[in-house]
Amino acid sequence: MDKEKKPYLSAKGVTKSFGFGRQKTVAVDNINLDLYEGEVISIVGESGSGKTTLSKVLLGLINQTSGDVYFQGVKRDISSQARKREYWKNIQAIFQDPFSSYNIFNKIDSVLLDCINMRGGVYFPREKKTEMMIEACSFVNLKFEELTNKYPFELSGGQMQRLMIARIFLLQPKILLADEPTSMIDACSRATILDELMHLRKEVGMTIIFITHDIGLAYYVSDNVYIMEKGRFVESGAADDVILRPKEPYTQRLINDVPKIYEEWDLSTV
Ligand SMILES: Nc1ncnc2c1ncn2[C@@H]1O[C@H](COP(=O)(O)OP(=O)(O)OP(=O)(O)O)[C@@H](O)[C@H]1O
Ligand SMILES: [Mg+2]
Repeated sequence: MDKEKKPYLSAKGVTKSFGFGRQKTVAVDNINLDLYEGEVISIVGESGSGKTTLSKVLLGLINQTSGDVYFQGVKRDISSQARKREYWKNIQAIFQDPFSSYNIFNKIDSVLLDCINMRGGVYFPREKKTEMMIEACSFVNLKFEELTNKYPFELSGGQMQRLMIARIFLLQPKILLADEPTSMIDACSRATILDELMHLRKEVGMTIIFITHDIGLAYYVSDNVYIMEKGRFVESGAADDVILRPKEPYTQRLINDVPKIYEEWDLSTV
């Protein structure tokens, strides 16, 4: 990565706490991050380490308690709804829980049409819009004709996650933040979806932030990896260095947890 270039997205001393006094949780604790154009990074950490909270701050869905986010070298201003919409043309997300990501009163057609409109396609002829929706669905192995006139809650979890990727195909944001994007998809489709995301990345030049528990996935897809523990980055660097030669015991533990998922369970010791 060319470090002479300005970072695309930066977090400087970003902290987010919830609650007050004895109830206070510091979910994100003084995080610094520089993301460069075209880079793929992963943020890996155990449950509750603050990954989703950090992504929500980066997306501008929640306000940080302190610190600043910079986009293309300029302090981000999302003080009005219009500015937020402008910002969201650049950064979009796929969430861990796809059920929470859709307005349940919008049919799938309108979810996809919104994306086309947001990309300046409001006045495209009807046929062109349909063609684009069909293409986006087939990109993620969904059949548009089976989805049209349905509501998102009528889909399976895996189909919903695919639909989210179809949205990204239409939106083509500069930065994609993917929070456990394949958590509801079986292992076989998971590899396909990842390949599709990486393919999409090549095609539209996307910069990607993966958020995951899965250090194997992080190794497979990313240039740089950030290891998160209790709201802080405890180790970061090139994927090869961090995952093949971890320095922190916490990182080593995350790595040691992985083979257990694939090894057959030894029931004789239970
Ligand atoms: N809205 C909220 N109100 C209060 N506490 C919160 C809120 N959101 C998150 N937290 C707390 O902040 C901490 C970090 O949560 P977060 O969801 O960011 O973790 P995570 O790393 O994404 O975990 P997981 O891997 O399970 O998704 C947790 O202790 C959580 O309980
Ligand atoms: Mg999370």
